Amino acid sequence: MKKIIVGQSGGPTAVINSSVVGVYNKAKELGIKVYGMVHGIEGFLQEKIIDLDDYLSEEENIELLKRTPSAFLGSCRYKLPKIEEAKDVYEKIFEILDKNEIDGLFYIGGNDSMDTIKMLSAYAKENNKKQVFMGIPKTIDNDLPITDHCPGYGSAAKYIATSLKEIIRDNESFGVSKPTVCIVEIMGRHAGWLTAAAALAKTDDCKGVDAIYLPEVTFDIDKFIQNIEKLAKTKSSIVIAVSEGVQTSDGKFVCELSDSDRSVDAFGHKQLSGCASTLANLVAAKTGLKTRAIEFSTLQRAATHIASLTDINEAIEVGKCAVEEANNGTTGKMVIIERVEGSTYQSRTNIYEIDAIANVEKKVPLEWIDKENNTLKEEFINYARPLIMGELEPIYKDGLPAHLIRK
Ligand code: F6P
Repeated sequence: MKKIIVGQSGGPTAVINSSVVGVYNKAKELGIKVYGMVHGIEGFLQEKIIDLDDYLSEEENIELLKRTPSAFLGSCRYKLPKIEEAKDVYEKIFEILDKNEIDGLFYIGGNDSMDTIKMLSAYAKENNKKQVFMGIPKTIDNDLPITDHCPGYGSAAKYIATSLKEIIRDNESFGVSKPTVCIVEIMGRHAGWLTAAAALAKTDDCKGVDAIYLPEVTFDIDKFIQNIEKLAKTKSSIVIAVSEGVQTSDGKFVCELSDSDRSVDAFGHKQLSGCASTLANLVAAKTGLKTRAIEFSTLQRAATHIASLTDINEAIEVGKCAVEEANNGTTGKMVIIERVEGSTYQSRTNIYEIDAIANVEKKVPLEWIDKENNTLKEEFINYARPLIMGELEPIYKDGLPAHLIRK
């Protein structure tokens, strides 16, 4: 390969830019030129392309990029049409690739974004195109199959557990008054990995949250209220973690109970936010207790100032592995992370068929969930704790963490 292009797609993470660093550094090592697509494949179709040497040839900017949240290149939620229905879209993509002499396309994304790699590599195969296509995993939802975990998850989990410790501390301060019920809503769509990270807040200096509700378990509103009433008999501070994706037995999202007018993205996903305020209003009405709703919303995927160093390093490694593999001729695969067996945490990269990964969601195993006590079992803690370890000090400017931005 002589020239490659990298794009970012889907919801950003705290370390999605570290994968750009991995792609860039490995490519430079191999003497390959690297372009960036602005706003993923959607921007690429409008020929929005930048030369990454303009930003990353200085080491100082590489260090800033590792500490920059959101997608530096810009993201998109764009679904490629079926090949037989819109050949012109594919012809346009390959025309732009050919025109710019690009040999390899790298896409950093989650399940939906891997669909883009699946479609492009299928089209290339059918039409004898020379370019290679590789998927690089990222998602705070941690729901990609095959890979042990996804870059982006560890950092979001670290932010969530840290913030919950702080919320619990705050909520506990009014010790002798009437209980305050704090309901914290966590992203993750239909998978509970991120909400499960609330269990990590329980440490030597913190009692942890009082209950965790994952989308893997049907949400029973009556039982939820009963649990809060029971907790309020003995506690003055109640902190509950709830997934944005919890559903009642009739398949309705809890967030839809108060308003069902939801925006839907190109992949057919409804916007799921608002279940904390729905539940807080319900608890206040049914119990008369003071309630507070907190929605971590975009904060949990943009908190690069407290990113996990393990996560940053793995995000770099998956980017490097994708370039190395593609340079050896691999195409139509996604890089995966494998956990190396042993007493201390170690991981390695590998590759896997994109067809088995695109559009598939991996859920929290039911045997890791303690349904009786609304919490996670030791198996989950052992899985997740290593992923939040380590820190990378921000570079401060004007008293704030500095970022690298596109001109
Ligand atoms: O897929 C990542 C994610 O952050 C989900 O957890 C969340 O439901 C979704 O993106 C939100 O998407 P958007 O920012 O487009 O509303």
